[in-house]
Amino acid sequence: MRTQVAIIGGGPSGLMLGRLLEQAGVDAVIIERKSPDYVLGRIRAGVLEQGTIDLLDAAGVGARMHEEGLIHTGVDLAFDGEMLNINFDKLIGKHVMVYGQTEVTRDLMAARQRTGSKTIYEADDVAIHDFDGARPRVTFTKDGVSHMLECDVIAGCDGYHGVCRASVPENAVTTFERVYPFGWLGVLVEQPPVAEELIYAHHARGFALCSMRSNTRSRYYVQVPGDEDVKNWSDERFWDELRARLNPAIAEALKTGPSIEKSVAPLRSFVAEPLRFGSLFLAGDAAHIVPPTGAKGLNLAMSDVKALAEALIERFLEGSAAGVDSYSPTVLQRIWKAERFSWWMTSLLHTFPETGNFGRRIQRAEFDYLGGSVAAQQSLAENYVGLP
Ligand code: FAD
Ligand code: PHB
Repeated sequence: MRTQVAIIGGGPSGLMLGRLLEQAGVDAVIIERKSPDYVLGRIRAGVLEQGTIDLLDAAGVGARMHEEGLIHTGVDLAFDGEMLNINFDKLIGKHVMVYGQTEVTRDLMAARQRTGSKTIYEADDVAIHDFDGARPRVTFTKDGVSHMLECDVIAGCDGYHGVCRASVPENAVTTFERVYPFGWLGVLVEQPPVAEELIYAHHARGFALCSMRSNTRSRYYVQVPGDEDVKNWSDERFWDELRARLNPAIAEALKTGPSIEKSVAPLRSFVAEPLRFGSLFLAGDAAHIVPPTGAKGLNLAMSDVKALAEALIERFLEGSAAGVDSYSPTVLQRIWKAERFSWWMTSLLHTFPETGNFGRRIQRAEFDYLGGSVAAQQSLAENYVGLP
């Protein structure tokens, strides 16, 4: 087998890269370790920035998003129940779209199926070779049979735990990491959302987030210790804890029900530098992780992939290496902006056991500053809606 671009990973990054290359006539094959149903079963991000909305449109997969997605013109922040509305529309004349990562993935998978592009699912023992040399290639087994895919370029879109970044010699890559001492316990429920907008709540008991997937399906999170076992959380315990962290009127309005998904996600900030190693390029969660508090993970992955697709198209169609040469430094600038914003939102809204009562007073002062400063609110809005 031979292709121009071997894409490792069929999550949102790999699928979008495949789609953009296919539109331009660059040949690509996606190799994914799991099954399509497994990939679609992972409940993750929910908020799309304008740049991501535009990219889905440009990729010709935005129709269902415009029909079913919910336009949000603001978010609410809360501190011990006291609410602060951040109105993106009034502050900067922009909005975001609430449309789940699962749906984005489904739409990209459907487009790939329509055009008959090659995706190899349930590939085991995926390994990449000679990306620093003349014969880059990927090997894997499928149904017990060994295969080799020769290529010009390898795109590492295989997430934080993938094989691509792990294959780079240790001395060729620098990593920057902060692991937070907590995670998010998330629940998906077939009930209307408690409020029209998302609520990010700081509370002495820990952070809580009220989000949604549609007008009939809601997604809620509470901060839990990093090593928390989801088995310790009955639905009842989850709803009680969520209510305890919300403004009383909101808690009263909360509609609960049996969870249809429940999982714990650890929180981490992580960046690898650089993002190019010969003919290997990293994009999305393979390259960086942000804590989900700023709703940046998926959006950042999409902006990496847009830049990578443009660079590869320039290389294969115009024979110019300018785009691939500047890929890493260009996308890293945006990545660090997203890292800063996600770290800031996380620092403001979570409880940090180690910083004690001084830390909470500083968070309160920060919240009050935000409430009193239009400039600070504008900055939050600009970063949330799409990085400046
Ligand atoms: P992934 O979605 O991780 O996709 C990588 C793909 O590569 C996977 O399908 C995986 O199976 C495949 N793969 C891995 N290893 C191999 C291999 N060796 N060979 C072949 N294929 C391989 N962001 C938000 O904004 N809000 C959230 O609430 C949120 N929640 C999250 C919860 C969790 C548990 C995680 C892990 C992430 C969350 N994120 C969230 C971040 C967001 O979902 C990611 O930024 C986004 O999924 C990145 O897409 P990706 O395609 O780069 O990586
Ligand atoms: C979600 O709906 O899953 C969601 C929304 C906003 C975030 C994180 C997750 O910041």
